[in-house]
Amino acid sequence: MVTISGSPPSSRVVVTGAAGFIGSHLVDALLVHGYEVVAVDRRGSESIVAVANLGGAMGYERLRMHCGDLAEMDISSMLTGADVVFHLAAVPGVRDSWGARFDEYVRTNISATQRIVLACEQAGVRRLVLASSSSVYGEASSPSAEFDHAAPCSPYGVSKLAGEQLALAHARRRDTRLSVVALRYFTVFGPRQRAGMGINQALVSALFDVAVPLFGDGTQRREFTYIDDVVAGTLAAAWIHAQAEVINIGGGASTSMREVLDTAESVTGRSTTVYPMPEQAGDVTTTCADLQRARQLLGYQPAVGLEEGMRRQARWLQDLPPDVRISLLPSESRRFDDYRRCRFGK
Ligand SMILES: NC(=O)c1ccc[n+]([C@@H]2O[C@H](COP(=O)([O-])OP(=O)(O)OC[C@H]3O[C@@H](n4cnc5c(N)ncnc54)[C@H](O)[C@@H]3O)[C@@H](O)[C@H]2O)c1
Repeated sequence: MVTISGSPPSSRVVVTGAAGFIGSHLVDALLVHGYEVVAVDRRGSESIVAVANLGGAMGYERLRMHCGDLAEMDISSMLTGADVVFHLAAVPGVRDSWGARFDEYVRTNISATQRIVLACEQAGVRRLVLASSSSVYGEASSPSAEFDHAAPCSPYGVSKLAGEQLALAHARRRDTRLSVVALRYFTVFGPRQRAGMGINQALVSALFDVAVPLFGDGTQRREFTYIDDVVAGTLAAAWIHAQAEVINIGGGASTSMREVLDTAESVTGRSTTVYPMPEQAGDVTTTCADLQRARQLLGYQPAVGLEEGMRRQARWLQDLPPDVRISLLPSESRRFDDYRRCRFGK
């Protein structure tokens, strides 16, 4: 279980993007530790994945759920009495950010972030913890440290850098009470991971016998970070002494996609099937985190490695009800229709 150190006994906190992969785990941890949680997401009860992600949390009376779009909804009323806001809502993903959906990235990752910051200032919130991304760094030949030059290689990375810097600019004002800690997460994995992410695809291929795309030659390396470590770092960021900080949250090692496929095979005992796809614009060769600041400021130490984390994610995938499982299949899968027929008779 994720533990919280140095935090006040109990208070009201707000989590945006609460129905998502990371947000829902954060909500679970906060509830377990006695916090009153205001959870916000634009996905509501119509979303199979959102309902599954928040299934455990729904049993708590201390959870209040708001369904709405942060780019439009009234935010101030939700923040009344809140000590900390965890802002995780975003349009994620590098590949989609180039084309027609670009406006959505700007609307949520930048404009809605500005709305959150203003509402936090008005409501007297003490701390905004913001989910940023390793994508802000772009290509890196050595471990990326927080003061390195940021040169994002995708519109998604640009939008995350803009959102992060916007919030930090507010926190640097002399007349503000709001402090901001931006956490640059390095590829997060574990139960509830988004369907399109590499580790989910590798495990789905092995467990359910579907072919999944492999972009490029599979030598691209990512620093994978297990969800419990991300939640632990995020919780710690709420209560450290800070005014305007950026901190990396990584897993402690970089691994290639080929190695991820091999690990999927070893933890499931089944083979994977991939079909080659061209390298995607914006996919950098390597991500790798310098974790010195995280250690110093947060006492952060990643505890779950790739193999153990993938074993846990595989168990979660196997235990999912069929309707949730099917919504986690990569949509690009070539054998999707066959899969539906043979597994679910649809
Ligand atoms: N998953 C990763 O590997 C990773 C890596 C780096 C950074 N991050 C960042 O972490 C955060 C969470 O990522 P995730 O993987 O859990 O994504 P996710 O898509 O699972 O969750 C994001 C949630 O935000 C909600 N949302 C999006 N736009 C919204 C809006 N306008 N109003 C209200 N709700 C909105 C979505 O409905 C979704 O439930 C994001 O800020 C993302 O950029 C994630």
